[in-house]
Amino acid sequence: MDPIIQWVGGKKRLLNVLDLMLPNNYNTYYEPFLGGGALLYKLLPQNAKIYEININIYNLYINVKNNVLEIIEKLLIYEKEYLDSPDRKNFYLDKRTIYNSLDYSTPQNSIKKTILLLFLNKTCFNAVYRENKKGEFNVPVGNMKNCTICNTEQLKKISNYLNNNNITIYNDDFTKFIDTIEENDFVYLDPPYYPLKNDSFVGYDKNGFTKEKHDELIDILHSLNEKKINFMLSNSNNQYFRDKLSMYNIYDIAIARTLNSNIDDRKDCVCEILVTNYNLNKTQTISIPQVNYSNLQKNDNVSIKIKNKKYFLYSNDINLKEINKCFYNFIILNKIKIVITNKYIENNEYKISLLFNN
Ligand SMILES: C[S@@+](CC[C@H](N)C(=O)[O-])C[C@H]1O[C@@H](n2cnc3c(N)ncnc32)[C@H](O)[C@@H]1O
Repeated sequence: MDPIIQWVGGKKRLLNVLDLMLPNNYNTYYEPFLGGGALLYKLLPQNAKIYEININIYNLYINVKNNVLEIIEKLLIYEKEYLDSPDRKNFYLDKRTIYNSLDYSTPQNSIKKTILLLFLNKTCFNAVYRENKKGEFNVPVGNMKNCTICNTEQLKKISNYLNNNNITIYNDDFTKFIDTIEENDFVYLDPPYYPLKNDSFVGYDKNGFTKEKHDELIDILHSLNEKKINFMLSNSNNQYFRDKLSMYNIYDIAIARTLNSNIDDRKDCVCEILVTNYNLNKTQTISIPQVNYSNLQKNDNVSIKIKNKKYFLYSNDINLKEINKCFYNFIILNKIKIVITNKYIENNEYKISLLFNN
């Protein structure tokens, strides 16, 4: 499932990489910095504890969980009014003013604020969420094209997911999760990133995320490791985290550029890091056309190649599967090895299992 809002630092484009890096199994899934929740809504774990300090995002999920039909009904009205409006910019600015004037003192206000947040997220500039120091949403109007503002099916699906699984959402500081997490649970942390320029500590909301908060986060990672709890952390490519977390696996992520297998200057292309306290040892199964099947053997190595600006997994010069560019970059940059470990037929589909490790 896709997230219901676009969020600064949203992980949608990195989902293949994150999925590859997850441990093979775990009990409860923890996500202490939820935001748009791209990974949560991809994995759809049955047991999850999630934290989000921003009250507007927290209430968005609570309201979508409890009042989805009312939200859809009113959002469809806003959508029609906006698309029919001769002055979309002022329509947007009016809604933004109402959004900022509402608080959460009554359930009706809270639902209205959520509907407005969904509307603003779809119609604002670049679909970002930004607040000023007073906590007011202050993003200007977007390009005002015709667009779907109410994605009814998606809202219903997320509501069903939150209702029919054991998902607890807390409007609390991320540090609180350490009180309940247990061995065999797993935590994915995607905090506000450590700034790359000194003195540019900025937050997603009026509370900010200070240097002390980054240090608290680092301490928590060490205590998770002591308790033998697996974690995966996303962050900027910053030297502070690299130094403080050098005892763990630090993977480089390049998004912007195409890389060759000989990367001379990593500084130029690495834009994020991923840190884990466990080793990559992941099996992924893919379906392949029958014509390729008989030529493949267990223990064959899989390589990756570019052809016509597309990215493919190959074995013995047989094209197995097209992959996306982020995934390609990640594998090349981190010298990840891929080996065929199994081949079988299931429901008339030809499958091979690939083991990824480094
Ligand atoms: C990088 S974003 C997460 C993006 C998310 N992974 C996604 O796919 O959309 C970080 C989130 O952490 C939240 N946050 C900031 N400080 C926090 C704190 N002290 N405790 C919990 N959440 C916090 C922010 O409001 C923001 O939503």
